[in-house]
Amino acid sequence: MDVIQVRGGRQLRGRVAVAGSKNGALPLLASALLCETPVTLARVPRLADVTSMLRVLRSLGMTWKRTGTGEVTLENGRPSSGAVPAELAGRLRASLCVLGPLLARGRSVRLPLPGGCRIGDRPVDLHLRGLAALGADLVLCGGIIRGRAAGRLRCARINLCGERGPTVTGTANVVCAAALARGTTHLIGAAQEPEIADLVAWLNACGARIAQVGSEIVIDGVECLAGGKHTILPDRIEAATLAIAAAITGGEVLLTELMPAQLDAVWTALQAMGVTVARQSNQVLIKRDGPLLPIRVAARPYPAFPTDVQAPLSSLTLLAAGSSVLRDEVFPERWGQVSALRKLGGRIATIPGGIVVRGSFGLRGAPVQARDLRSAGALVLAGLAAAGTTTVRGVTHLDRGYESLLEKLQTLGADVSRAPLLPTAITPIRPWRSGRMFTARDADPCAFGRHLAPRNGGSVW
Ligand code: EPU
Repeated sequence: MDVIQVRGGRQLRGRVAVAGSKNGALPLLASALLCETPVTLARVPRLADVTSMLRVLRSLGMTWKRTGTGEVTLENGRPSSGAVPAELAGRLRASLCVLGPLLARGRSVRLPLPGGCRIGDRPVDLHLRGLAALGADLVLCGGIIRGRAAGRLRCARINLCGERGPTVTGTANVVCAAALARGTTHLIGAAQEPEIADLVAWLNACGARIAQVGSEIVIDGVECLAGGKHTILPDRIEAATLAIAAAITGGEVLLTELMPAQLDAVWTALQAMGVTVARQSNQVLIKRDGPLLPIRVAARPYPAFPTDVQAPLSSLTLLAAGSSVLRDEVFPERWGQVSALRKLGGRIATIPGGIVVRGSFGLRGAPVQARDLRSAGALVLAGLAAAGTTTVRGVTHLDRGYESLLEKLQTLGADVSRAPLLPTAITPIRPWRSGRMFTARDADPCAFGRHLAPRNGGSVW
C-alpha cells in the first residue's frame, strides 16, 4: 500500500494536457458489446477503473488489446453466460453499464450490485425501470441483478428523472438498449452530461439513429450496429481539478486538449473567487495572483456545477477570506473530504446537504485518509497549499480515476511523491490549535446571513 506525500508551498507553473475522460470511456467500453465488428477507442485513460471495466468485459466473452498510445481495440468473442463475477462488479459503479448492451443483444445477465465510490445513496431503480420499460425481465434479489430479454427489446416512452435529477449511467444504459430495440423510444428527463452526448455521437457513427435535444432523447431502433473508431472526449473533471491546483498554489497553468465550454460553471465559480480564467479554443489559462474570495456553489446535474468538482473546490475555499457555502444536490452526503480537511486546519461546519467553510486560517500538513476518488484529489490539492508535509493514504482511490495526477503535478513544479506506507511515513497528529472551534452553530442560516455571508465573492447556485 502506498501513500502520497505532498510538501506544500510551491506555485504550479507550466502547461499540462488533459487525459481522456474516465466517465466518458467507461460506458463507451461497455457499448462495444452492442457492435458486430471490432471497436477501437482512442485516448482511453490509464486508470484502475478502465482496467476493471476491461476485465468485466472479458468475463462476458469480449477480447481486447491495448496499445501504448492509449488505444483499446475490443471485439465480441463467443458469448459467455452473461454472469459477471462479484469481485469484478464490485470494483466500479460503471460495471452497471453492461446491462443495457447485453439485454439489447438478447443476452441474459447476472450482475452483482456494482461498487464504486461511497458518496451517499446510489440506487439502481432508474436503470432497472428504464430497461424493464423496454421489455426486459429484471429482478434485483440478494444483491444480484438478474435480467433477460425474450428476443428484441421494444420501444417505450421513458422518464429517467429521479428525485435528485437524471441518472448519467442510467441514461447510457437505456440509450444503448433502445439503440437496438424495435420502434422509436422517447426518453425524457435524460442526463445531459457531455459524456452522454459523446456516447450518442459514437453510437450514431456505428449506425444507430439517436437524436438528443436537451434532456430529451429520441432513439429509432436499428437491427444491428457495426464497430468503428472513436476518440474519447477530454476529462472535464480532471481539467477542473488541475485548474483548482493551479489556483490553490497561486500559480499559472495552461491546460491543453480540453473542451472549455463543458466547464462553464466551474470557470464562473473560479472567476467569482478571483481566479483569472482565459479560454481559447481547446486551452484554458488559469492564473491567480491575488487573494481568494468566498463563494456559494450548489452542485447540480450538467450544465450546472459538477458534483465531482465540489470536493476539489472545497479545498480552494479553505484559502478564501470569508465563509463559503457549498451544497451538493446530486449526492447530498458526498462530504468524504471534510474530516480530513479539518485535520489540515480547515474550519468546516456541515449543514443539511452542504458545508460552510471559513477560510483563510492557514493549513498545516498532517496525515490524512482519502475516502473516495474526488476527496482524494481534494486532499492532494489542500496539501499543495499546506505548510509542511501532508501524507495522504487511500491512494487506490486516486488510481481509479486520475491518470498520472502526481506526474502532472510534478511537471508543474509540485513537490509530491508516492512512497510505500511505512511507519515513518506517518507523522503524529498535532494537538488542535488553540482558538475558537468552528461549530455547527456558525452554520445557522440566520448566523450565515448576519456574519458569514460572502462580501465580495459570487454565487453559483
Ligand atoms: N439515482 C437514483 N436511481 C438510480 C440511479 C441514480 O435515484 O437508479 C440518483 C443517485 O442517487 C444520485 C443521482 O440519481 O442522486 C445521480 O446519480 P447518477 O446515476 O447520475 O450517477 P452515476 O451514473 O452512478 C455518474 C458518474 C459519477 C458522477 C455522477 C453524477 C460514472 C461512472 N460516474 O455516476 O462520477 O458523480 O454520474 O454526475 O459516470 C466520479 O467520477 O467520481 C463519479 C462518482
